[in-house]
Amino acid sequence: MTARRLIVAITGATGACYGVRLLEILRELPSVQTHLIVSSAGWMNVEQEIDRDRASIEALADQVHSVRDVGASIASGSFRTDGMVIAPCSMRTLAAVAAGLSDNLVTRAADVVLKERRRLVLLARETPLNLAHLRNMTAVTEMGGIVYPPLPAFYLRPATLAETIDHTCARVLDLFDIDHTIDARWRGRTRPGRSGDVDT
Ligand SMILES: Cc1cc2nc3c(=O)[nH]c(=O)nc-3n(C[C@H](O)[C@H](O)[C@H](O)COP(=O)(O)O)c2cc1C
Repeated sequence: MTARRLIVAITGATGACYGVRLLEILRELPSVQTHLIVSSAGWMNVEQEIDRDRASIEALADQVHSVRDVGASIASGSFRTDGMVIAPCSMRTLAAVAAGLSDNLVTRAADVVLKERRRLVLLARETPLNLAHLRNMTAVTEMGGIVYPPLPAFYLRPATLAETIDHTCARVLDLFDIDHTIDARWRGRTRPGRSGDVDT
């Protein structure tokens, strides 16, 4: 395998911007081949939240797969990939992954990634969480997946929404050991807190 391969799925939780921004960043990295799947509800959220058309989003990926195409390359473990990120991941998709229910290409590809012991990162998004959500997150974690709720890190003092989104995308790429140039690293405290808070 020469180029690295990453599956990017966008499902119907709020936060389609995370999946789209990941694709934009990965587009600039020729060493990474991207495979995009968007669920029907994912497209609904894209329309609701992002001012760009479907074709321009699909153009960011190297390959686009229909969510119904369970015969796609990425539906088989013999097609080697570095893993999969579901950004954002709805509670429905989370539940299906937790149950091993391969009812569409998103959940089948995630199932394959888990069975092949590859990296699976779920930007699971819902609030508040009920017990089923929490149990499903536990189940996926026990299977080796990484549940990464897309929550902002305020200690980096983001000035814009774009920076907040980039910080999350950078941490996700770190989880795949994909080098990037987004400056989102904590380098130790630079702004002392109130008097008496600073360790000496
Ligand atoms: C505007 C909008 C926002 C939604 N936000 C969420 C959300 O944040 N989390 C979630 O789990 N479901 C959310 N949903 C519901 C899911 O889209 C719905 O459960 C859908 O069946 C998920 O299907 P999928 O997992 O195949 O994408 C939202 C739906 C809409 C229309």
